[in-house]
Amino acid sequence: MTKASDVFILKNRKGLEVTFIARGGQITSIKVPNDRGEVVDVVIGYDTVDEALAGDAYFGAICGRYANRIVNGQFELNGEKFQLDTNNGPNHLHGGEDGFNNRVWEVEPVKIRRFAQAYKLSLVSPDGDQKYPGELTISVVYGITEDNEFGIEYSAKSTKDTIINLTSHAYFNLKGAGEGTIADHELTVNSDKYTPIDGEIGTVTGEIANVKGTAMDFASGKLIGEALESNCPQVKLVDGIDHNFVISAYDESLRIAARLEHEESGRMMEVYTDQPGIQVYTGSHFDGSEIGKQGKPIEKWAGVALETQIFPDSPNKANFPNAVLKAGREYSHTCVYRFF
Ligand code: BGC
Repeated sequence: MTKASDVFILKNRKGLEVTFIARGGQITSIKVPNDRGEVVDVVIGYDTVDEALAGDAYFGAICGRYANRIVNGQFELNGEKFQLDTNNGPNHLHGGEDGFNNRVWEVEPVKIRRFAQAYKLSLVSPDGDQKYPGELTISVVYGITEDNEFGIEYSAKSTKDTIINLTSHAYFNLKGAGEGTIADHELTVNSDKYTPIDGEIGTVTGEIANVKGTAMDFASGKLIGEALESNCPQVKLVDGIDHNFVISAYDESLRIAARLEHEESGRMMEVYTDQPGIQVYTGSHFDGSEIGKQGKPIEKWAGVALETQIFPDSPNKANFPNAVLKAGREYSHTCVYRFF
């Protein structure tokens, strides 16, 4: 049996090192060398496992059953109405109060040829867990390749028709955690559309809008700071970016979703996924009151989360991708973070 505090490390020959703990499958560090051989830890978090267990339980964690928000925690499936627990104002966020980020995952090493090293994380979520229908059996593979890719491969099966949207919630800062904000990082998102949000609803309205001419336009790459400082009402609403982008030409194959670069430190990261969306969240709720890595306060915009996903509130939006998982069918989702 795995314990909450058990630590696992994935390493390749190039010096990429990913560390995670069993509670939430939380990625607690990703050490990345640049071409000058300087190694930094590019994910926001804490210096010790004890602090990670006591701290922000979304940092680097697997979120589910439904990552992101479901309006009023309600949805209808096969004519039946479901009321999930609400834990974010009127809404349901990241699977509820006791989401998958809070569970102790069973972890075992696995041999998979494409990975230099890999672990499988498993969890059984009982029927009715957080009021979702169906017993859900989930497995998530964390693996690293010799090409400096960190792959996350989710699969799940349910005993009843249900809804699902799993993601990973690491916040990245390519200068290194604790080395300032991500305002000076250049972000490119493979997207010309996003899903605007509304303050009253607390999440997406259902509209799919063009990014062109707005602060949300990262299609050809720009400094995140440019968007953060803009007067765009969508940015003002959440004091940064906390938006779902529609990945261009989505066809269920693995494609590039985003690229994050920090020129000075010579580091770059690419995100690939077979999912239709990616949430870009600039960590606007950090306010310096929590002490993170290097004993430094975690400031606003300390990192950016790039969460591959189905869109927020999809179960209630007919024009959004389908988040229904039929009984006995397999959910699968791949996300690859590649470091350069
Ligand atoms: C959401 C934010 C939320 C945060 C909580 C992100 O995935 O987009 O709105 O505040 O998770 O950690």
